[in-house]
Amino acid sequence: MLVGPLPMLKAVRKLSIEKEIPCQISLEERMGCGLGVCLGCAVKTAKSTVENPQYFHVCKGGPVFRAKDVDI
Ligand code: FES
Repeated sequence: MLVGPLPMLKAVRKLSIEKEIPCQISLEERMGCGLGVCLGCAVKTAKSTVENPQYFHVCKGGPVFRAKDVDI
């Protein structure tokens, strides 16, 4: 599991996907409600597209996610 600054998380995420190495990352997002209501902690999923945006709530689904599942 990886914890640290966002640029490092992005770099390690990219490397883990390229090398097919399982990796989990702990995201630190600002949280307004902590209940899944305000969307302040929303992070795009890897499957998100312009036509079909999809998000995880870090407060409810995280803070730890599989690196390949989030788009940071
Ligand atoms: S903190 Fe409000 S939705 Fe997560």
